[in-house]
This record gives sequence, C-alpha cells and structure tokens, in this order.
Amino acid sequence: MGEANNSVKSVVSSYLQERHSELHQAELSQRLATETADITLPVRLGPQGEGRIHPVSQVFDEVTEIFADMGFSVAEGPDIETDDLNFTKLNIPPEHPARQDHDTFYMRPRPDGTRLVLRTHTSPVQIRTMLKQKPPIRIIAPGRVYRCDSDQTHTPMFHQIEGLVIDEATHMGHLKWTLEEFCKAFFEVDEVKMRFRASHFPFTEPSAEVDVGAEAIGRPGQWLEILGCGMVHPNVIRNCGLDPEKYQGFAFGMGLDRITMLKYGIPDLRAFFSADMRWLKHFGFLPFDVPTLAGGTAS
Ligand code: PHE
Repeated sequence: MGEANNSVKSVVSSYLQERHSELHQAELSQRLATETADITLPVRLGPQGEGRIHPVSQVFDEVTEIFADMGFSVAEGPDIETDDLNFTKLNIPPEHPARQDHDTFYMRPRPDGTRLVLRTHTSPVQIRTMLKQKPPIRIIAPGRVYRCDSDQTHTPMFHQIEGLVIDEATHMGHLKWTLEEFCKAFFEVDEVKMRFRASHFPFTEPSAEVDVGAEAIGRPGQWLEILGCGMVHPNVIRNCGLDPEKYQGFAFGMGLDRITMLKYGIPDLRAFFSADMRWLKHFGFLPFDVPTLAGGTAS
C-alpha cells in the first residue's frame, strides 16, 4: 500500500507543481505588462528638493575642506567677546587708534566698568586658542563678525575665516605657500595671480594684504583684496603666555563673503542677508550636493 500511495502522491504533486509554476509565470507576465517605468521622466525630489544651502554656508564648507587637507583643525569663539580678547591681547591697548578703525558695537558697561563687544574680527580666536593649547598650533576659525558700517560693499554683520599657525619654525614663506595653495584649490585654477602688499596690523609684524588677479573670475586687469595676514607679533605671543623667543608663526583673516561673491559671480553683498527666497533659489545649493573640492557649481 505504501508504495502505491507514494506513486500516487508523486503524480499528484508533480501536477500541482506544474500548475503552480504556470500560475506564477502568468502572474509575472501580467505584472511585467502593466508595471512599466518611464525612465525618461525627470526625478522628482519632493519637499527636500525645495530647500537651498546659502552660498556662505557652502563656502564655509569648501574652505574648511581645503584647510583640513593641509592639516588645519577648526576652532571657534563666541560672537560676543570681551574687549580684552578682541583688542588688548591682540596688541591693541585702550586708546590705540586702531580701535577707531573697527567701528565697534559696544555693549552697555558691566558693573566693573568693562564692556563686552560684538567681535569686530575673528582674531580673538587666535588668543583663545593660544591660551588653551600648546604649540604646534594649526587652526582655522570661521565665523560672524560685526562692524557698524553699511553700504554697497559693507554690511554690519559679515563673515571671516581666521587662520593661525604657531610652532618653532614657521615663516613668511610658509604663509605665502599656504595662501597660494588655498587660492588655487578654492578658485579651481592651476595658476593664481596673487599680490602681497605691505600693510599694517597691530597684531602682526610684518603684515600684508593680499589681492588676487581677477582674471580667474573673468575680470582681466583688476585686483581684488581678499585678506589680511602677517607673522604673529611677539607681543601677542607673549600676551598668551608663550615665549616669543621660542615660538613664532603666521595668521591671516579672510573675508568669506567677498570670496563667495568672487567665486560664484554674485554681484551684490547686501542680497546675502536679505532672506529673499528667489535669490536663494538662484544662488543657493541643493542640500544633497555634498561640497567637495571638485564640485560646488551654483545650481
Ligand atoms: N583681523 C584683521 C581684520 O579683520 C585681519 C587679519 C587677521 C590680519 C590676521 C592679520 C592677521 O581686518
């Protein structure tokens, strides 16, 4: 009986299997016939596709990536700063005329008579870093800065990126090389025409201002100032408790908004901060575009 049962069972199950695969095939053909995808349709990003990254945020990321490649780390400081860190420790004592150049926003005096300020530059982050970190130091410090000034090329709030390198051997040649490499990477060109003009800052000696040849951005024959820099003044190093006989290095402070305008051909600075959605749609970046050294074309 067992043998007979088994042979019946195998006949029945082979019929079942055959029918099952027929039905399966039929279902599959039907699905294939109805489920067509038109791959020529554009991709719909949905609500995520609506937002835009502000050009300044994009450039912060690009600059950070370039300097990270050269071994710099990112440091930060507060927007509301003490007078001491914004000025005095940077070799700008009270009554120094350089204070007038800064168009400072002062807070109301505190009970002890001192006044906090909205930082006028990112240079106090140099001091904060040297006070808490032993050399070798290699940092950049991006952030907002404030000056009581407003016209076509100045806004009361703007952005800077500070750089600081302190060790026992860094010299002006390293400064030049670093800035040249930065400009080549940032403007995505093999050669950048750069001009170092002698200048003066109380916290660097010697000091220079740097212009770049504007041909890289389609304005032949013109120069554009993008940063101030120099060798950190011995007084500043001493003010941070380090021995200026032993340690030396360079610092620079670059205008972020300025290099953003240059790279992406944005004509008016004030539009950066007007929160105009049409402007942001035009000059902003898609959130899914990860900033890279090679990428970064305005959408
Ligand atoms: N802090 C200067 C400014 O805002 C720029 C600067 C930074 C110059 C570091 C030299 C060194 O104008």
